[in-house]
Amino acid sequence: MNYNKKTVTDIDVKGKKVLCRCDFNVPQDKKTGAITDDKRIRAALPTLQYLLDQGAAVIACSHLGKPKGEVKPELSLAPVAKQLEELLGKSVIFASDVVGEDAKAKAAALQPGQIMLLENLRFEKGEEKNDPAFAKALADLAGADGVYVSDAFGTVHRAHASTAGVADYLPAVSGFLIQKELEIIGGALANLIERWARGSVTDYVYLPRAVIPFFRRIIWNAADLSVLTGCITAVIALLHEKL
Ligand code: 3PG
Ligand code: MG
Repeated sequence: MNYNKKTVTDIDVKGKKVLCRCDFNVPQDKKTGAITDDKRIRAALPTLQYLLDQGAAVIACSHLGKPKGEVKPELSLAPVAKQLEELLGKSVIFASDVVGEDAKAKAAALQPGQIMLLENLRFEKGEEKNDPAFAKALADLAGADGVYVSDAFGTVHRAHASTAGVADYLPAVSGFLIQKELEIIGGALANLIERWARGSVTDYVYLPRAVIPFFRRIIWNAADLSVLTGCITAVIALLHEKL
C-alpha cells in the first residue's frame, strides 16, 4: 500500500481557486440544531489556514447527515459556516446552494485569501451517486486553473462526486488531515506487519499481541475514529494473506 500521496505543499495554489472537501459532518443538538462538538471543524483548520496563507481562494464543501438528495433545512451547513468563521477569525461566505446560481456567483467573485462554504453536498442527488455531471459542476466552481484538495478523512472511503468524481476534472492533492491520518495508519500497519513477521499463527497469544497494539495506536492517535473501518478491513486482508 502506498501512503505517500501528494499534498497541498506539493502544488502551487497562489491565486488559484481551491475546492477543499472537508468532513464537517458534526453532531448537533436534536432540538436546537446547535453544534455539540466542533472537533471536525477544528481538524480542518490547518489545511484551510495554509491554503489561505498561500493566497488561494478557498471553496470549502462538506456533507452533513443523510438528506438523500433532498433539501432539508435542519441539515443546512449554515451553523458550520458560523463556527468556522469564529475558529478562523475571518469571515466565511456561505452559499445557499451547492452548484446553483448563488454558489456559482459567489465562487466567481471569490478573491485570493477569501473562503466560502457551499451548502450541504448531499442536498444534491448527484453527490452520493457520483454523477459525473454533478462532479464537473463542482469542479467548474474552481475554474480552469482550479485545484481539488481532499481532506475529508471521515468520508474518503466513500466514492461520491465530491470525494472521488471531482478528481477527474481537477488536479487533486490531499490536505494535512489526510496526510496525518495516513502516517498514523502507515506507522501502525508497519508495526503490525513487523510483529506479524516475528509471531506464529499457531501461537495462541500471538493474535492479540499483534492486533491490540495496532488498534491502541489508531485509537490514541487518530483524529477520527471512522478510520477503524479501514483498519479492520486491512487487518482482515492481512489475516487472509497469512492464514
Ligand atoms: C461519518 O460521520 O461517518 C462521516 O462523515 C461519513 O458520513 P456518512 O457515514 O453519512 O457517509
Ligand atoms: Mg458514518
